[in-house]
This record gives sequence, structure tokens and C-alpha cells, in this order.
Amino acid sequence: MATRADASGRNFDLQSAVRDVTALYVQANPHSRAQYERAQASMPGGNTRTGMFYTPFPLAIERAAGATLTDVDGHTYTDFVGDFSAGLYGHSHPVIREALQAALDDGMAYGSASPYEERLAALVCARIPSVEQVRFTNSGTEANTMALVTARAVSGKDTVMVFEGGYHGGTIYFGRKSAPINMPFPFLIAPYNDAGEATRLIAGNAQRLAAVLVEPMQGASGAIPGSAEFLKALREACTAHGVLLIFDEVMTSRVAREGRQGQLGITPDMTTLGKYIGGGISCGAFGGPAGIMARYDPSKPGAYVHHGTFNNNVLMLRAGAAGLEKVFTPPVQAALNDEGIALREALNGLGARHGAPFQVTGLGSIMTMHFQREPLRSIRDIRPRDERLRQLLHLHLIDRGFFTTRRGYMALSLVVGADDRAGLVDAIDEFLGHHGHLLDSAPEGSPIDDWPASAGVTCTD
Ligand SMILES: Cc1ncc(COP(=O)(O)O)c(C=O)c1O
Repeated sequence: MATRADASGRNFDLQSAVRDVTALYVQANPHSRAQYERAQASMPGGNTRTGMFYTPFPLAIERAAGATLTDVDGHTYTDFVGDFSAGLYGHSHPVIREALQAALDDGMAYGSASPYEERLAALVCARIPSVEQVRFTNSGTEANTMALVTARAVSGKDTVMVFEGGYHGGTIYFGRKSAPINMPFPFLIAPYNDAGEATRLIAGNAQRLAAVLVEPMQGASGAIPGSAEFLKALREACTAHGVLLIFDEVMTSRVAREGRQGQLGITPDMTTLGKYIGGGISCGAFGGPAGIMARYDPSKPGAYVHHGTFNNNVLMLRAGAAGLEKVFTPPVQAALNDEGIALREALNGLGARHGAPFQVTGLGSIMTMHFQREPLRSIRDIRPRDERLRQLLHLHLIDRGFFTTRRGYMALSLVVGADDRAGLVDAIDEFLGHHGHLLDSAPEGSPIDDWPASAGVTCTD
């Protein structure tokens, strides 16, 4: 294949750079490719989790230990994805293994109450200020679903205010593309980080609004933190107008001991959790004050019913409790977030040094790389830069042994070390040195103005 490059191997244009890095990837990963092709027979697109797909085909990882992933072609990678923040403890953490082994030794599925649910519930309630009582689910999506149906039942109102770019699970997603498989609730979609507009919409729709559901930092839409001013305005408007405020802390609860809510001193009415809370095993949780949660007390007449065969799955309960009690202690949590902040600063320093349209947003140990210089306060500010830039960076990092995501998202786990982080910084430094001239040549695109439902419009599909 002819390579369009100068004497130092730098490609003249983006298209040939992407073609070269993709060709290397295809050549290096025949078994992943074969796995992808086989999987298409039994799963649509060979896939059962949309976010795992990327072009030309995803790596098939067959085992992992510590912070190292090994794929079916025998390559190893340092894991900077951390299972999208659920893999906080890394792979095969001895404390998590011990808890899982104990659960296996003691039998797994009792079909009964056990001591283990109370242990994890007490730990969660002790950490998260708004959670006086909690119930467990199997995923963050399910936790948000339960929080929304609870708010609708408690309030007797039907509509839920959400935000452009909000991701609360596969069926509660308000990204750029319309989501035909969203839950069939009336959703009022507001712009993120716009305190004035949100306040106006809450006041104007209070009669029908059961709840406002918000991520304190929008994770899936680019690790864009909600400002304290914005989140405080939501709290005040919800209190003034009798609307329940729900914080989706499925991702952000890891950024401080008391979650983002404790860090900002803003207490929502209900909170949803998930990801690392179950020690890396499927989990979710929704909680709030006893005044709301007591409606689930089955000994009371008229109690709401919350079934779920795996809600008290002992693998999750024991791994989650061991992790929170013995590993993810407040000093460890603070140190991890400091590592995340330092990594973000180092990467942003590279963007500035290379004069490249490159920045990293996020909070604590969660972050996303973006190809633009302009500040990001909401998904409206994200310029739809060429998808090929993301492919170029992603495949470059894979080639250098660093596993990140196509959209640039990264979550540090407790086992990613200083050398790993320094290695990633070097690999991105090399990328910007080698390809920086191509970044500015990619079509800039314009800020997003093609929302399926523009702000303040109710969307029911
Ligand atoms: C903020 C937020 N809420 C909810 C979810 C959904 O959680 P799950 O994938 O466990 O259903 C996610 C998952 O990424 C998330 O980031």
C-alpha cells in the first residue's frame, strides 16, 4: 500500500494517516478480527454492548490481571478504560477475589435475605449524604428507571426533566441522535449547565414535573462537569416548586467520599449509583430519605413492589462491601482523584505545548480527550470534529500498548501506576508531535445545533 508521508514518516493528510494506522491494526489483530466475524452470526453486529464497538473491529480481550489486558492475538495493554469506571479495583484485586471466593464457598443464590445486603447498604448510606435508605438493582440503567418510577408514583406527576447529552442508561439517553428505544415517559429536555433556562423551565412546568434527573458531570457525553452554580440552581428551583431532584451519581460518586453531592454540599432528593459500588460485579442502587424509600417497605399496606431475582446477588454484595470497607477508603479515594487531576493537567499541558486542538475534561479519576481548544460547558459546545481523528488517536494508543476508548473516555483504576500514566503521557506527546499538523486540518464542524428535540421541548418517543 502506498504511504503518503514525508521523510520522517509523518503523513501529509489525515486520510492516509488513518489508513496507515488502521492497516497496521488489521495486520496485528487477525484473531480479534476472526472473533468479530464469528460473533456476527449470533449477535447483531457481533455485539451485546454497543459502546464496545469500534471500527474496523474491536479487540477481543480474553484475560486480564492488575492493570493489564491480554487480547486473543497475545498483545498486552495497560487498561485506561477501567470498564467505564466500574473496574475501579482493577483486575483480580486480592481483596475482591477473596470476597468472591468466600461467596462461592458459601453458596451463591439463597433466594432469601442475607447478612450481606445490609452490610453493603449500610456502607453506601454512610457515604452518600442524600441516601438514608437504599435498594439495589442490577445496573445503573435499572437504578435510574426505579428512581424515575418512584418519583412519578410519589408525586403523582408524569414528566421528567433531563438534559441534552444526559446518559442514564441505554433506555434513558438524550444524546445527539434521537433514541427510539428510550423509556416511553414524557421527557422535558433542557440545556446542560444553563442555570437560568433550567430554572425557568422548572418554574413553568412544575405542575407536570415529577423529577429533574441530572448527572453532576455528564460522563458519556464527554466528561463535562456540571457547575456548582447550575446544580445549586436546580436544587433551589426543585425545592421552590415541589419537584424531586435526582442526582445520577453512577459515575461521579467515586470522585469524593460523599460523592459529587458531598463535595459540592448540594443534597438531592434521590441518588442513583452503580459501576464500582458492586466491586466490579453487575450492580446499581437507588436511594433517598426514609420518607420516600419507606414506600418500599413490604410490611406496610400499599407498599410499592420492587422485585428482582438478582437484586441481592451475594457476589455483588460481598465484593462491593469488601471494596468499600477494605480498599476504597477515603485516603485511597482522594489519592486516586489526585492522580486523575495530575494526569489531566499533564495532558492539557501537552495540548498547549504542541499548540494543538486537544484538551482533556473531567473530574478526579474520570476524563475524556477532545480535539478542540474551545472550552466545553455542555454538549452544545462540542464541535463534531472528524471521527477519523478519534480513530487515529485510539489506534495509535492501542499500537503503543494503551487501551482507551474511541470516544476518548478514560477512567483510572487503583492499579494503574505512575509509570503507566507517564507512559500514556509520552504516547500522546508522540501522537501530537507526529500528527499534530493533521488535527487542525480536520474539518472543524460547527457547534451542535441539530438537536432531535430542542431545549424545552417534550419528547415522548
Ligand atoms: C451516569 C450514568 N448513569 C447510568 C449509567 C448506566 O449504568 P449501567 O451501564 O450499569 O446500566 C451509566 C453507564 O455508563 C452512567 O454513566
